Amino acid sequence: MSETLEITDNRTGNNCQLEIDQGTIRARDLRQIKRDEHEFGLMSYDPGFDNTASCRSAITELDGERGILRYRGYPIEQLAEQSTFLEVAYLLVHGELPTKSQLNSWVHNIMYHTVLHEKTKKLMEGFHYDAHPMGMLISTVAALSTFYPDARKVQEPETRMLQAYRLIGKMSTIASYTYRNSRGLPYVYPDISLSYTGNFLNMMYRRVEPRYQPDPVLEHALDVLFILHADHEQNCSTNAMRNISSSMADPYVSVAGAAAALYGPLHGGANEAVLRMLNEIDSVKRVPDYIKRVKAGEMRLMGFGHRVYKNYDPRATIIKKTAHQVFEVTGKNPLIDIALELERIALEDDYFVSRKLYPNVDFYSGLIYEAMEFPTSIFTVLFAIPRTAGWVAQWIEQMVDPELKIARPRQIYSGPAKRDFIPLEKRS
Ligand code: CMC
Repeated sequence: MSETLEITDNRTGNNCQLEIDQGTIRARDLRQIKRDEHEFGLMSYDPGFDNTASCRSAITELDGERGILRYRGYPIEQLAEQSTFLEVAYLLVHGELPTKSQLNSWVHNIMYHTVLHEKTKKLMEGFHYDAHPMGMLISTVAALSTFYPDARKVQEPETRMLQAYRLIGKMSTIASYTYRNSRGLPYVYPDISLSYTGNFLNMMYRRVEPRYQPDPVLEHALDVLFILHADHEQNCSTNAMRNISSSMADPYVSVAGAAAALYGPLHGGANEAVLRMLNEIDSVKRVPDYIKRVKAGEMRLMGFGHRVYKNYDPRATIIKKTAHQVFEVTGKNPLIDIALELERIALEDDYFVSRKLYPNVDFYSGLIYEAMEFPTSIFTVLFAIPRTAGWVAQWIEQMVDPELKIARPRQIYSGPAKRDFIPLEKRS
């Protein structure tokens, strides 16, 4: 017999039984609870979807209490150590690790699609030199929708896979162009003989050398960071991706919307905010004072806290280790000492301990990016590149979900009751 929940409506004395499936009741089932047949029935109220499952997903498993993150069942620690970003992207999209030949053709298809239509370049040239890279990225991804009208056939599996190649491939190219545009540097075409991350570094940093050769340690570190950022179940931007594409909008405009959600400082914009915060603190001596201000509610400690993790974010553990490998090549980023002191004090302080606030993925990633000479303003773009694989995987999963419906939440109306219009001359 299935598990049930019995509810007594104390307004009427009526009882009803709701089915429990995987620790969840269906919000729809609450509608049967009403005082009379003319009533709408009960709804659940959940600002910020704090306790609402919006879909079933087989992609990412996150146990925030125990600090566990797995893609398709594989622990993030094993993937970060043994896999590559494109292999992980395959896993996210297809559900299984690829064979050698599947991986070869996946890598070929994505690298082949890293090239942008020449007119995309022209479009990007229109941006001012100081345009924020995320603004450029969001607008340009949205513009891809106009280059690939075939993408609107979202019901066709082959069409969806072609857009997956294009989106994952072109995102790295657009990202590098946002940087080169702001520096007035000529665009660098993709070198598909390099790895995905190696080619991204090539498109970012190549100057006059005939062929760019990435530093293998930095290339690997970036690949690890890309793996860690590839998916994170129903976060704000992924929810935006699912929300927008639930209306059957094409994946380019949907990814643009998801990237816009990522841009905010409470989400992917936090890595940029962490660096600004560390620079503002400026010295280890000033850390206690900064913590005091955070506790007084003046600001948040950026890179700390998470809606789901109530334990150390497993990605932060891996990133901390990666940071030291990077610093061996680039030299130590002096801001690491401020970050370590912030973490040390916060992890002992009752304010943070009682609220279960731990460093998240963004706390240390910016230090690596800065050591690799990425400008602070491009940090969130570095999050958007790998997360595109997650957004695409979630979109493809959603498109074959038999329970898919257009996302359309309800509200509790809190405005005025009906009132009559007052002509302008009679208003006081
Ligand atoms: N610094 C200080 N206090 C905090 C912080 C913080 N970073 N985060 C949460 N709190 C406090 C908050 O003030 C509240 O205290 P009280 O109960 O006294 O009002 C309590 O902790 C619960 O906070 P909340 O805002 O209800 O928690 P949330 O789940 O809605 O927010 C969060 C999650 C990530 C938006 C939040 O922790 C935050 O703003 N962190 C800083 C921004 C950040 O690092 N974001 C990156 C998240 S990880 C990458 C990603 O997935 O995008």
